[in-house]
Amino acid sequence: MSRTWLISAAAAAALLIGLGGAQAADKKLVVGFSQIGSESGWRAAETKTAKTEAEKRGIDLKISDAQQKQENQIKAVRSFVAQGVDAIFIAPVVATGWDSVLKEAKEAKIPVVLLDRQIETRDPGLYMTAVTSDTVLEGRVAGEWLAKQTGGTCNVVELQGTVGSSPAINRKKGFDEVVAKNPGMKIVRTQSGDFTRAKGKEVMESFIKAENGGKGICAVYAHNDDMAVGAIQAIKEAGLKPGKDILVVSIDGVPDIFKAMADGEANATVELTPNMAGPAFDALVAFKKDGKAPPKWIQTESALFTPDTAKAEYERRKDAY
Ligand code: AHR
Repeated sequence: MSRTWLISAAAAAALLIGLGGAQAADKKLVVGFSQIGSESGWRAAETKTAKTEAEKRGIDLKISDAQQKQENQIKAVRSFVAQGVDAIFIAPVVATGWDSVLKEAKEAKIPVVLLDRQIETRDPGLYMTAVTSDTVLEGRVAGEWLAKQTGGTCNVVELQGTVGSSPAINRKKGFDEVVAKNPGMKIVRTQSGDFTRAKGKEVMESFIKAENGGKGICAVYAHNDDMAVGAIQAIKEAGLKPGKDILVVSIDGVPDIFKAMADGEANATVELTPNMAGPAFDALVAFKKDGKAPPKWIQTESALFTPDTAKAEYERRKDAY
């Protein structure tokens, strides 16, 4: 064997070893995402954004749609653990009942990130971080807007989100705080519309019937825009003018509510960004790189929007959703 050949073989081996190392460093992160379903326009936008943000960063994102069922989310998390993914994202449909499956992820040393909803647990060490808004603040902002608008006197009907979910619990809490400070403000009816347009409409129809054809209602507070859009439909079908006869305030900031505001049929929304995955991926990448744990709560903003900017906001958002 010639000396030249030996040198080339050694160089090729070194190159291969080097490549192997580089490949390991460049290995694509694999993230399993247990998504709730597609109950609202906001939820669909969150899923779409998660895909885009994963692509931007070269992350392999595996999405499992739970169709609104916690049991499906638990199964999905177990399957991600079995696959040995690098991290698990969960948008928890309800706040309780997560401890045992999260323990399994922890034992497998897989970091968990909560997206857009919080959980109730005695052991916050079961997840790495939560990327969410302050959902109590959202309810408070909506309530304060309404109190100001009506001089603190208003009979409100409330469309709550999914029973047991953290945004439904907290958006009610924040709004109730404002009601408690304004003796002329009353919640005359409250029921879950499950964050969907169809249920929002159905429940609003029953509120209108129960409240003298809607004449006893000053405003509808919906825990999300989709239910507000359903309520607007019900108000119109009852022969009343949404946005005027009955004020409409909600949360999310999806294009359809900006369209309704531009048309004079809704009055205010509190924005919730659908980009929960972007900050979650950034935290995860930094954690994988240097082991630095992110803060326990990565808080997104909650800004109030009213009809004055609705047309421009609709144009700005309509293709992004
Ligand atoms: O958890 C966020 C809420 O869930 C959004 O406000 C709502 O539209 C969604 O379904």
